[in-house]
Amino acid sequence: GGVHENERHESGHKHVTGTAEYIDDIPEPAGTLHAYLGLSQRAHADILSVNFDAVRASPDVIGVLTADDIPGENDVSPAHKHDDPVFARNRVEFHGQPIFAVIATTRDAARRAAAKVRIEYQDLPHVTDVLEAAAASYPLVIDPLKLQRGDIAAGFARAKHIIEGEMRIGGQDHFYLEGQISFAIPGEDDEITIYSSTQHPSETQHMVGQVLGVPSNAVTINVRRMGGAFGGKETQANLFAAVAAVAARKYRCAVKIRPDRDDDMTATGKRHDFHVGYKVGFDTDGRIEAVDAVFSARCGFSADLSGPVTDRALFHADNCYFYPHVRLRSRPLKTNTVSNTAFRGFGGPQGMVGGERMIEDIAYTLGKDPLEIRKLNFYGGEGRNLTPYHQTVEDNIIGRIIAELETSCDYAARRKEILAFNGKSRIIKRGIALTPVKFGISFTKTEYNQAGALVHAYADGSIHLNHGGTEMGQGLYTKVAQVVADEFQVDLDRIKVTATTTGKVPNTSATAASSGSDLNGMAAANAVQQIKARLVAFAAERYGVSEADIAFEPNTVRVGTQRFSFADFIKIAYGARIQLSAAGFYKTPKIHWNRAEGWGRPFFYYAYGASCSEVSVDTLTGEYRVERADILHDVGRSLNPVLDIGQIEGAFVQGMGWLTTEELWWDAKGKLRTHAPSTYKIPLASDRPRIFNVNLAEWSVNPEETIRRSKAVGEPPFMLPISVLEAISMAAASVADYLMPPRIDAPATPERVLMAVERLRAAA
Ligand code: MTE
Ligand code: MOS
Repeated sequence: GGVHENERHESGHKHVTGTAEYIDDIPEPAGTLHAYLGLSQRAHADILSVNFDAVRASPDVIGVLTADDIPGENDVSPAHKHDDPVFARNRVEFHGQPIFAVIATTRDAARRAAAKVRIEYQDLPHVTDVLEAAAASYPLVIDPLKLQRGDIAAGFARAKHIIEGEMRIGGQDHFYLEGQISFAIPGEDDEITIYSSTQHPSETQHMVGQVLGVPSNAVTINVRRMGGAFGGKETQANLFAAVAAVAARKYRCAVKIRPDRDDDMTATGKRHDFHVGYKVGFDTDGRIEAVDAVFSARCGFSADLSGPVTDRALFHADNCYFYPHVRLRSRPLKTNTVSNTAFRGFGGPQGMVGGERMIEDIAYTLGKDPLEIRKLNFYGGEGRNLTPYHQTVEDNIIGRIIAELETSCDYAARRKEILAFNGKSRIIKRGIALTPVKFGISFTKTEYNQAGALVHAYADGSIHLNHGGTEMGQGLYTKVAQVVADEFQVDLDRIKVTATTTGKVPNTSATAASSGSDLNGMAAANAVQQIKARLVAFAAERYGVSEADIAFEPNTVRVGTQRFSFADFIKIAYGARIQLSAAGFYKTPKIHWNRAEGWGRPFFYYAYGASCSEVSVDTLTGEYRVERADILHDVGRSLNPVLDIGQIEGAFVQGMGWLTTEELWWDAKGKLRTHAPSTYKIPLASDRPRIFNVNLAEWSVNPEETIRRSKAVGEPPFMLPISVLEAISMAAASVADYLMPPRIDAPATPERVLMAVERLRAAA
């Protein structure tokens, strides 16, 4: 039951049999009330008047909450910019912004009543698009970042070729299966307990305290599991928790809030869409000399996490490539749309897609295989290891990953065969691409790189484990339990992982940036080591053996020549009054980051991977399908290979959805029209690659001292399906004999693919 083994997800069987308890399954106390949000019907307007008469007269309505009912601050800004009101007061800044909440005895009654409000608006000019925002001189939501190294003027002067281009990269809805939900139960005095579907219980605790005007010690946040989160519950859960808390406080009843899917999609932030403007200089072989790029992001009406997101776009614009001279700039633009937020990869995917677009342009300009251009530009070799943020790449294994994948998937022969096929096939065109990933691991906000855990051994020998990480399906609880089982050398079923709660482990970080097992695994191991040290000291004294002669062996403690079952030994230790509980702690070493200077070591290490995708495209309709995908991904020494492979498969399909079918569309009034699965198309089971070979780079060992030399897995594989976008682009480019950069924007919906085919055909 230790590490590096294929243990099943601790709740897998409960997920599939419907017995896993989500927040909406928790039995409700008598008198539980339900809240429902009333949302703005304008993108940008002053509120002249609000009439709640019909709302209040609606059946089963108890009352209405507005900004005036907030006892503390009307703000849940995670950036501490005071720009995220719980309820808009005099002005709304996006279509879908919460203005009030109805409290009723049933959710259905609250929802129906909310629709009966009469609001008089005075419209103001609004902007939803990034380029329009820039043209209208809309402000930035946070200070932009610039990464610069070398001398770009000199680099471009030396370059034989210079290409300028631009690309649009769409956003993405998280589409977690369990939507946002909070359930608040008021306690004595100022106390309140909230069950919240949050990735960041400590921040939810802090925000609820701020909104209620009470200290953090009055607020307890609990979360056993989320039905998916993907970054969508890192900050977006806070507003729901705050509304439930304010209502619970006001009515002294338990209050639950759960928006329906349309409102969840309308009122909560998503992945940022980007516009990338780039200029790349290169020599006749395709070796890059200089890069100058601006990454403009649709941030929405407030800062939220747009700082870390747009920063991470710049951190990943180089992907695996050395840029001798480089300038990368972010433009985090305000828009009258929902405030965009974290989503798997945190802007890194958008940055990387921009970087890969430059490689594609170079390849088509020179008439070469993009893979050849990639290899030519990989980090590695004398003076070619410095990133645009001045961190040296020390653990580079992309060369070996690419070489192994290229061989195992038979890339060269298949590409040749596809080129021949396209020469003969008139309507169906095929494409193949092999793309790499390098993803930096650590929160770029240094203080987030810490974690705590609480381990108790009870007198009966059972073990209680609690840590600051949250479970959203990724398998974190399983992995941390494996670490504890391994440290104690006991079977996994001896350990119970209990629901994450701010009352047991304080001041935790969001379970995000893929850092959950790195941070919490280490903290839990530290807690066990403390308990073991006490047990060893006790046994040495009691049995008169040296500490070196005491060992934790499978389900056994060996003291000299004596053996005790683990449970018996714990019972003896309890009898001897040995403390059997410990709080563990961990903080990531080595990292530092100076944002103002754009200089430092923001990442502890990198995770690598590569994928090769093959597609076929119907050039009459633009429809396509992924025929085959081969993946070789690096998770260091895997804590649990089967869970890691699940993460890689899921991330690939989710990333593929982002780059192909998932399209967010706002109408002229600034209303999001793709707010349900009828219009917003996530991948289906049938969209899975027909052949899907996923392998771990089993030889990889993290050179840094991470938990059991593993690497984070949550986000890096999300960028593997860039190969799908590029394979589709190759199929399209075939209609112009591969002589023109295909330049298909993301998402490459069938419409967009068809338009690209027509454009390329016309130009050929
Ligand atoms: N996997 C599942 N099943 N559900 C999720 O919501 N979120 C992803 C990834 N994998 C997610 C998931 C994101 S955005 C991150 S940052 C990581 O899991 C967080 O968990 P970890 O740090 O434990 O990997
Ligand atoms: Mo993941 S976007 O860091 O929650």
